[in-house]
Amino acid sequence: MSDTFRKPVRKAVFPVAGLGTRFLPATKAIPKELLPVVDRPLIQYAVDEAREAGIEEFVFVTGRGKTAIVEHFDTAYELEATMTGRGKSLEPLDPTRIQPGNLVTVRQQVPLGLGHAVWCARAVIGDEPFAIFLPDELMYGSPGCMKQMVEAYDEVGGNLVSVLEVPMEEVSSYGVIAPGAVNGALTEVKGLVEKPKVAEAPSNKIVSGRYILQPEVMGLLETQGKGAGGEIQLTDSMAKLIGQQPFHAVTFAGRRFDCGSKLGFVEATLAIALDRPDLGDEVRAMAKKMLG
Ligand code: UTP
Repeated sequence: MSDTFRKPVRKAVFPVAGLGTRFLPATKAIPKELLPVVDRPLIQYAVDEAREAGIEEFVFVTGRGKTAIVEHFDTAYELEATMTGRGKSLEPLDPTRIQPGNLVTVRQQVPLGLGHAVWCARAVIGDEPFAIFLPDELMYGSPGCMKQMVEAYDEVGGNLVSVLEVPMEEVSSYGVIAPGAVNGALTEVKGLVEKPKVAEAPSNKIVSGRYILQPEVMGLLETQGKGAGGEIQLTDSMAKLIGQQPFHAVTFAGRRFDCGSKLGFVEATLAIALDRPDLGDEVRAMAKKMLG
């Protein structure tokens, strides 16, 4: 294949301008992305995953009431000075450190949909391929989901989405792929549809919150009309790239928690707490006792 669709992926977009209505009242004054799973906010899991995959520049698409997400990655001088004065380790703050200049925020003034949020980052993305992380989908595994995708990108280039299989009756809440040839964890993508009716869904493989896209998608988003749910859908513009550029899906070897829903959030909290070397045994004992 030519090198046209193979430039390295250095930039990532984190759309965090949604309203988080499914988590009200918790999300009235606190962004959904700062809700902690055990002791790290959701956004931290996504940034850690990005860093592991070699991402250097972090582009947050924010909106009103979302400034605290950006502050999470600031140097907290008073906090650090006080902790140091008290002889406390600053290590818990290490993941929050981003090289000065490498965190960029753009505003999405009105939450018109995910496609519109991504388009708001166009000036920062320029003519480079880029990753997208939806932080409320917590991808848990080692290597992380984006690292697995970058490894696949090194082989096939072009555009990639992460997918997983769900029971057919659940597909109507998601973007769904029409699969072509399968080669290990890689599936060729022949079509994409957002929130299809069960009877019309081309498969039960849903797109799960991680993308590597070529910059041409920005031009398509520019004129993208409203789609499912009256929102400007990223899926609709991605679908137009199929046939013009390579497009594959990667089945993530790991677990995905939908932390945008209450059940998924509780599941993530429990699964990660059980898996933590510093907490697992105690949490297991506590859970056993609770369940009788
Ligand atoms: P969701 O569909 O989960 O929407 O967005 P939401 O507003 O965050 O939450 P609910 O459904 O009201 O509870 C998926 C991702 O896209 C971002 C969200 O922040 C989330 O990361 N998003 C969505 C935007 O940044 N802007 C939008 O206009 C829509």
